[in-house]
Amino acid sequence: MDEQKIREALQVVVHPKLRKSLIDIGMIRNIVIDDDSVTLSLALRSERSPLRKVFIREIEKAVGDVPGVSSVQVEVIALSREEFDQLFPRAPLKGIEKVKNFLAVASGKGGVGKTTVAINVALALVKQGFKVGLLDADVYGPSIPVMLGISAVLEQKDNMIIPQEKYGLRIMSLGMTAGRGEAFIWRGPLVSKMINQLLGKVTWGELDYLVIDLPPGTGDPSIAIANALPRCLVLMVTTPQEVALADVRRALGLFQKTGQPIVGLVENMSYFLSSPSAEPIEIFGRGGGEQLSKETGLPLLGSLPIDLELRQGGDSGVPLLVSSADSSTGHIFHTIAHKIAEQTRRLE
Ligand SMILES: Nc1ncnc2c1ncn2[C@@H]1O[C@H](COP(=O)(O)OP(=O)(O)O)[C@@H](O)[C@H]1O
Ligand SMILES: [Mg+2]
Repeated sequence: MDEQKIREALQVVVHPKLRKSLIDIGMIRNIVIDDDSVTLSLALRSERSPLRKVFIREIEKAVGDVPGVSSVQVEVIALSREEFDQLFPRAPLKGIEKVKNFLAVASGKGGVGKTTVAINVALALVKQGFKVGLLDADVYGPSIPVMLGISAVLEQKDNMIIPQEKYGLRIMSLGMTAGRGEAFIWRGPLVSKMINQLLGKVTWGELDYLVIDLPPGTGDPSIAIANALPRCLVLMVTTPQEVALADVRRALGLFQKTGQPIVGLVENMSYFLSSPSAEPIEIFGRGGGEQLSKETGLPLLGSLPIDLELRQGGDSGVPLLVSSADSSTGHIFHTIAHKIAEQTRRLE
């Protein structure tokens, strides 16, 4: 009895969907023979895979029938994400077939200016000549329609939703499907389905960037995006008070774990300018973003001031990058967008 015999015997254990033997596609590995006992690993997507029992039974039978084998031990291990994607390539979602890059704007908690950053960075990318879409994936509190002054209802064609166009952006938000102020309550599996529809059932068309405004934290929508878009870039927004908190680190940890490249940090509400030429007033102390950047090794792409015009822009539906792109805050958004484009090229 030798490994070759065991491998040959294992040819009969076939994956029902892939119609190939588990041994040939690398789902059986680490065969160790010790006298008359054989141990091997079975790599599955998850340890709770419904095929687990069937595979183990078939493996035990196949190996057990090899002359000289008296015991078979199967250890179940997990396939890495890359291995899984290679074995089971997902059909691309139709709506995003022609989207080159995805940029999710994330934060540890709410109210840090994530949506404000998503909108103005998206607009800065438009001004730099890119084709950009904006997806409001904050399914619990979609605020993009209000912040961009969109009240139109959705149009459909060929069973696909047509995104709204405004300020050169293609925009889709659940807030466009229902009355304002309506609360959205979604449960885990539904969230994932909803996110997949927002990506796949919308005719995004050709885009250089689809900017995605995520809900804060590490909940189901962030996980759904990570699952649907393994190569989604992440931009993390924090405030100086927040950098010391665990929320940001937890959120960064989630994206690092799911393998999403984090393009950098944006520190929002870092300081206050009472007038464009005044000395900056650092209300919350200084250096929080820099410190987080040093600690995590992630670049700090920009620090935005508390800017009344930015808030008014959010309230009026005319964002700062439309009303005063040339202001000092406007320039910071341009720099952030420029650095994102640079990072994107580097990551390609
Ligand atoms: N740098 C800033 N200066 C002034 N107001 C800001 C700034 N960033 C965000 N805001 C305002 O703070 C509120 C929360 O911002 P928002 O972008 O909705 O946060 P989030 O999406 O993280 O919940 C909004 O009213 C917005 O206009
Ligand atoms: Mg928001």
